[in-house]
Amino acid sequence: MRILSVVGARPQFVKVAPIAAAMEGRADHLIVHTGQHYDDLMSDVFFRDLGIPAPAVNLEVGSGSHGRQTGRMLEGLEREFERLSPDWVLVYGDTNSTVAAALAAVKLHLPVAHLEAGLRSFNRRMPEEHNRVLTDHAADLLFAPTRAAMAHLEREGLAERSRLVGDVMTDVLHRTRDRVLAESRLAPHGLPASGYYVATIHRPDNTDDPERLRAIVEALADLPLPVLLLAHPRLRSLAAQHGILLETGALRVSDPLSYPELVASVLHSAGVVTDSGGLQKEAFLLRVPTTTVRPETEWVETVDLGWNVLVNDPEQIAAAVSRPVPKATDAAPYGDGHAAEAVVDELLGEAR
Ligand code: UD1
Repeated sequence: MRILSVVGARPQFVKVAPIAAAMEGRADHLIVHTGQHYDDLMSDVFFRDLGIPAPAVNLEVGSGSHGRQTGRMLEGLEREFERLSPDWVLVYGDTNSTVAAALAAVKLHLPVAHLEAGLRSFNRRMPEEHNRVLTDHAADLLFAPTRAAMAHLEREGLAERSRLVGDVMTDVLHRTRDRVLAESRLAPHGLPASGYYVATIHRPDNTDDPERLRAIVEALADLPLPVLLLAHPRLRSLAAQHGILLETGALRVSDPLSYPELVASVLHSAGVVTDSGGLQKEAFLLRVPTTTVRPETEWVETVDLGWNVLVNDPEQIAAAVSRPVPKATDAAPYGDGHAAEAVVDELLGEAR
């Protein structure tokens, strides 16, 4: 059976790693890279570090407005789907690459499976919210990571197509954490264990408005410990455009990290401040307290269990970051680290 995984953006490379490993020897698994992310640190480094097979094809669509980027993907993906004639198209998460692949596939009557289905922020300003909803309703098989995601799919009339498989991010995170510990990997940039915070900010709602971005940067710069700011290229270019200096106060600006470096930096930190979906969950899995600079989250379990606090007002970041460490928990809302095998079993029709 031929299965095509379509990926294009950084979080999707992380998720395809355990899937590609679980497919080995069981299916003819090919990776199609849309080229949405293209910098070495945003793309190639993940293929190298996580042992992901090289993509069969890279469409090299690059950056652009939503319409232009998605349109270029649609055209390229249609051509590749016709040429490669897969039995399943597997799409990941909620980026423009996800919705483009789902749409191109269903129009060719190719079966589509959506990994990380059923997440909802209910925030219609987020491009990802539209990408998720449209992809879920187009797809034939929906792999939900959590019970909350299953409940959303059920409410939208999609229960029959949905399967609770757990979260593949848990699979790759556990493996990488064990590797980081075995290699005694330290925090990058010589930062002292438990003596710094990790921060990432890249969402349009936090970066596009100069006043808001300035307020967030100032709040981070005033924190009492050094803040390792892992700067997405979008953050760097918008900060420069708005005339906002990032290298100020407590901030130590770094390029994006490879996955093992990211895991090491979070593991050894005193806390995380982020607007990334993946990082909220990774920090929770590593039991590192997180402050999320957004009005809501799709990963509600991290908040319910006390490890994540939502803060939309930049002035409240400092208080949230210095809150007491949450109560220990052995809850595992994101599965047991074997989600990728469950996904492959389902696709091959071998689920028990
Ligand atoms: C995309 C996803 C977002 C995800 C994020 C992970 C959509 C709508 N958004 O956002 O859900 O959380 O990826 O990182 O699909 N750029 C580079 N080099 C790169 C990639 C991007 O310089 O390799 C810069 C370009 O200036 C580009 C900007 O970053 O215009 C934004 O990139 P884009 O892929 O459009 O969206 P992300 O913000 O990365």
